[in-house]
Amino acid sequence: MSRSVVILGSQWGDEGKGKIVDLLAHEADAVVRFQGGHNAGHTLVVGGEKTVLHVIPSGVLTKRARNLIGNGVVVAPRALIDEVRGLEEKGIEVRSRLGISPACPAILGCHEALDRVRERSRGKKAIGTTGRGIGPAYEDKASRLGLRLADLADADRLEQKLGGVIDYYNFLLTRYYEADPVDGARIADEAAEMGAELRPMFADVTGELHEMRRAGKALLFEGAQGSLLDIDHGTYPFVTSSNTTVGGVMTGTGVGPGDIDYVLGITKAYTTRVGSGPFPTELHDADGRMMAERGVEFGATTGRPRRCGWLDAVALKRMVRINGVTGLCITKLDVLDAFERVRICVEYDGVEGFPVGAEEWERATPIYEDMPGWDGSTQGLTDQNKLPAEARAYLERLEELIEAPVHMLSTGPERDAHVILQHPFSG
Ligand code: IMP
Repeated sequence: MSRSVVILGSQWGDEGKGKIVDLLAHEADAVVRFQGGHNAGHTLVVGGEKTVLHVIPSGVLTKRARNLIGNGVVVAPRALIDEVRGLEEKGIEVRSRLGISPACPAILGCHEALDRVRERSRGKKAIGTTGRGIGPAYEDKASRLGLRLADLADADRLEQKLGGVIDYYNFLLTRYYEADPVDGARIADEAAEMGAELRPMFADVTGELHEMRRAGKALLFEGAQGSLLDIDHGTYPFVTSSNTTVGGVMTGTGVGPGDIDYVLGITKAYTTRVGSGPFPTELHDADGRMMAERGVEFGATTGRPRRCGWLDAVALKRMVRINGVTGLCITKLDVLDAFERVRICVEYDGVEGFPVGAEEWERATPIYEDMPGWDGSTQGLTDQNKLPAEARAYLERLEELIEAPVHMLSTGPERDAHVILQHPFSG
């Protein structure tokens, strides 16, 4: 019996994790974010109403789950408070159910400013970041310059530490990038105000998780972004700045590997990517446009159109192994309903071994295996016996190629549009 489940995106993000987390959150005693920040956008459709969560765990939409933000998450205090207030306006009780680690690195206005200015200066080589200051905040954590949320909630500490950070950033912004400086006084005032508002929600997230684990409670760790955006294992440098793979659960919350019972890898039945960077199976033709249209492929955080392509079993298999995936959840299978033929990338030509970074990734040319498409719709399907034979064959071939079993299918945006072959919490 799995009491502790990790949900991870296995591609470049936007695999539809939010919906699956929401589904499983109803059976969890705690839902935990462990990396990333408000660059994530988890779209949940409940009762026809759409809610996009950026940094608050998806368990907030359940009645029972405790929602925890672990130390590995970079937190923009203003964005977090705005999200809390937005949910409160919808009548959802948040503050008493949210626990935030005071060790989370704070994202401040200077981080956002640098993220944007730096992207602009990269020109054609821009990474296509979300502009939320994620990279600079993680940089400051590693360089030990940055402030943590605990520093914001203490007026003396804030004053002591912030001045040096603002001076450093304004030097970089004005002298190196020839851009405008940030307003240090404004950042300081806002940091103090937000720190005070966040303080009552501070919690020993690590300690709470240890206690819950000992008490046999059901824990759900909610990954943001996807494994191919991992700072170490992804398509570097076109990646985000955190470990989106399973190791992030441990460093980002303080639980041990033995505290993880089940890893659910989420993947679309095809592939999408936002921002720049290598994407071997990307399509620039009518098939790609059809995927984008049928899949409504626009980013939840930035509204940017997503690039689309066929499923890449080479990359997926690697990510499944890195994460120790127990079972896969395939989302948006219905997007492929319209295709007469579906393709899976089974090998790369042009590179030896698995690509190391962007330069090797750019040389990877997909070799495809074609399979017949299926008649009929898989949209909203809840009975696995109604799956068209060709769709079943496609999934079975995937299992073979990736060497992991399919345990779930998501067949539409609504909470109940899914097929569960093996339930993560009872596996
Ligand atoms: P950053 O995380 O804002 O630094 O952006 C780095 C890269 O990660 C860019 O290519 C972004 O488009 C991508 N990225 C960040 N968050 C998400 C997400 O939630 N879904 C998909 N891509 C993301």
